[in-house]
Amino acid sequence: MWSNSWRLPVNSTGSNLPELPATPEIGLPLWLLAELTYRCPLQCPYCSNPLDFAQQGQELTTEQWKQVMRQAREMGAAQLGFSGGEPLVRQDLAELIGEARSLGYYTNLITSGIGLSEAKIEAFKQAGLDHIQISFQASDEEVNNLLAGSRKAFAQKLEMARAVKAHGYPMVLNFVTHRHNIDQIDRIIELCVALEADFVELATCQFYGWAHLNRAGLLPTRAQLERAERITNEYRARFEAEGRKVKLIFVTPDYYEERPKACMNSWGNIFLTVTPDGTALPCHGARQLPIAFPNVREHSLQHIWYDSFGFNRFRGYEWMPEPCRSCDEKEKDFGGCRCQAFMLTGDAAQADPVCSKSPHHGVILAAREEAEHATAPLSDLSYRNERNSRLIARG
Ligand code: FES
Repeated sequence: MWSNSWRLPVNSTGSNLPELPATPEIGLPLWLLAELTYRCPLQCPYCSNPLDFAQQGQELTTEQWKQVMRQAREMGAAQLGFSGGEPLVRQDLAELIGEARSLGYYTNLITSGIGLSEAKIEAFKQAGLDHIQISFQASDEEVNNLLAGSRKAFAQKLEMARAVKAHGYPMVLNFVTHRHNIDQIDRIIELCVALEADFVELATCQFYGWAHLNRAGLLPTRAQLERAERITNEYRARFEAEGRKVKLIFVTPDYYEERPKACMNSWGNIFLTVTPDGTALPCHGARQLPIAFPNVREHSLQHIWYDSFGFNRFRGYEWMPEPCRSCDEKEKDFGGCRCQAFMLTGDAAQADPVCSKSPHHGVILAAREEAEHATAPLSDLSYRNERNSRLIARG
């Protein structure tokens, strides 16, 4: 249940609460994430979309998305990510890219590559798209297709990754790793080399949305993680010695950290997400919080960003309970991730349990321990599809 613990008294002379730094000025929404749709041909069990995505409202129209882009740009937004679901299912994607280009955004398409074609790449390029990132599920066809829920996924991705490069884009690949594929990290990196990738994100699963639901079946063991990082470092050293340009980015899951990440570079500070039905969020995970976030159909982005309750809820430091309140790292990590705190404690104002100072850190330790003994096969995971989403929403 939602806690009212944020109603802490403000520190003032005579209070025994610790002095808090001044609330920083509200930053500009530099990074706009446009989640164009929750529709997706794949069914990745680690998707960060909400569990009840199938129950969400109607998608914004082309004109409404253009309005969002215009308003955000006027407020200072510079970078625009098109994501989903699978943004390629939107038939107006090239038109939206064109509008973004004319507004002066740097644009990034975040896609599975399913539904992409040479003709679409060409059209997006003509429209002014700056950057394409293709995600893979694994280095081998069988696991990739099982995770993706499609027999054609792997071959299509390979073909489209090559086509993206052939059209002059840098090749940016994203592999989500977890306990079922992380042991093949060498094969994953070899595949990236074969594809002449320029940037590769080896992102160990973070546990939001469907990944959180499937955490017991996805979280790698510490030994798996350490081995994968060691092998990645060996490849990095080799690439450097050979003068290869490919850049490997290894992302450690929060669950093996002792301090939380400065999620979204603090709440309502840089990131603005707009979901398919127009709900505006400070991050892609916030929809699950018991906060009524505003919708772009009803309010201007100016109002949403500066004046809405949801965007102001965790700005500054006044909302922080202990141990964050008196922690000398609070200006660095802002207490971690609000969504993770909510998922793991039921109270979004708590310290992120990833932090070893959190009274709830035991849930992280228990998850690590559980990972040591997990045996469930890949097929036991709950796959992200409309049917499962409706079942979950119905309870
Ligand atoms: Fe929402 Fe971290 S994902 S605050």
